[in-house]
Amino acid sequence: MRLSEARQLVQVKLPPLSGTARALQGCRCVGDFREVARRRLPRAVFDYIDGGSETEISLEANEAAWRSWRFLPQALRDVSAPDLSVEVLGRRIAAPLGLAPTGYTRMFHPVGEPEVARAAKGAGLPYALSTVGSTSVEALAATGHGDLWFQLYMLKDRSRARRLVERAAECGYRVLELSVDTAVAGHRVRDARNGLTIPPSLSLATVADIARHPRYWTAMLASPVLEFANLVPVEGPGAAEVPWLGAAREHGSTVADIGAAFDPALDWSDLELLRRWWKGPLLLKGPIGPQDAARAVDAGVDGLHLSNHGGRQLDRTVATAALVRPVREAVGDGVTLVVDSGLRHGADIAVALALGADMCMVGRPYLYGLAAAGGAGVRGVLSVLVDELRRTMQLLGVVTTAELRARAGRLLVPGNGTAAVGDVTDPGVPL
Ligand SMILES: Cc1cc2nc3c(=O)[nH]c(=O)nc-3n(C[C@H](O)[C@H](O)[C@H](O)COP(=O)(O)O)c2cc1C
Repeated sequence: MRLSEARQLVQVKLPPLSGTARALQGCRCVGDFREVARRRLPRAVFDYIDGGSETEISLEANEAAWRSWRFLPQALRDVSAPDLSVEVLGRRIAAPLGLAPTGYTRMFHPVGEPEVARAAKGAGLPYALSTVGSTSVEALAATGHGDLWFQLYMLKDRSRARRLVERAAECGYRVLELSVDTAVAGHRVRDARNGLTIPPSLSLATVADIARHPRYWTAMLASPVLEFANLVPVEGPGAAEVPWLGAAREHGSTVADIGAAFDPALDWSDLELLRRWWKGPLLLKGPIGPQDAARAVDAGVDGLHLSNHGGRQLDRTVATAALVRPVREAVGDGVTLVVDSGLRHGADIAVALALGADMCMVGRPYLYGLAAAGGAGVRGVLSVLVDELRRTMQLLGVVTTAELRARAGRLLVPGNGTAAVGDVTDPGVPL
């Protein structure tokens, strides 16, 4: 056989030259991005993303709860053009998915929040900036993403909190969400064991790590100093710094230090205050049960963001998959329900919508993508999740996201799917 003939039989594929393309080459699911992130990040930084609080019971239970549902598809439906779009708080988005607020994003890749925003914008999905983000409200708005949300940790100094909310409004942020699960910082055992500070500081352990992750450390040392960009002084009222910030600049701060800026005295009267400060859509973010949800709606919120912080705050909190139905029943159809914590596959999103959520958010998945390959990694994760959702809907015989909820009774089967279907499904909605 001649060489030219052999070449036609065996296609030799050389690995791509760019490091980013090589990193993404084998990524087919969120778990693949997680694995690349694990290899690329120093242990302490990876654990900060990946870990949960205390004994990590919620962390594990979150994923398991979404995966415990089984599907029963509808036969013989034309699924050639599924529509994944959904209207959330008066805006149509490309798919029922958003990027949850995560603090200190530039610690995972120097491109940080602006590249996350561009990836979200490209995919037509909302993105929420955290109070403890590493990019300012103004700098993120400059990316031109028209559907940015702002997540507020209520600061002890209410005038500073108010100024932050006003800045978000001035910059055109569309939705404000108040996190109510952070009265004190959750105890993340991995971070304590790893001696994590934010930003990562050079200790004996980190010096040893530089040899193992030279690319990470070179990139971090070459990029601007990491800051809690929204807590540094700004012009005008409420410009004072938070007390630990100066020390944090010199020695780094622990997660507990950061938690000390938030107010454990936060109560329902603050929600009324916030409702007066912010005229746009307002959500409450936390593991909110049916009773609190109904009370929040009475207090004027537009929706609930059901979240147990991805198992990073109160350990043993019920999985959010268990909250969606009871909260939907308590608040009715007109109230927006966003849900996160443990969603790792488009099929999880389909389950959440069938249970009654309007949209889902993810935290760790896009951070894995970011750590793996910057903006390209975030784009990769979003496209994997959206593709998975589209395929799930098509195989389920469903053509719109609304149909997932309307036909949940006949599409969703609880448990491991081995019980006789007639015993477990609701009557369902006739076609
Ligand atoms: C590294 C990291 C930082 C986070 N920082 C914040 C934050 O600053 N504010 C907040 O409300 N939630 C924060 N969260 C929680 C997310 O908004 C979201 O609720 C959670 O990540 C969803 O769970 P998942 O990671 O399993 O998708 C953070 C989560 C992670 C993983």
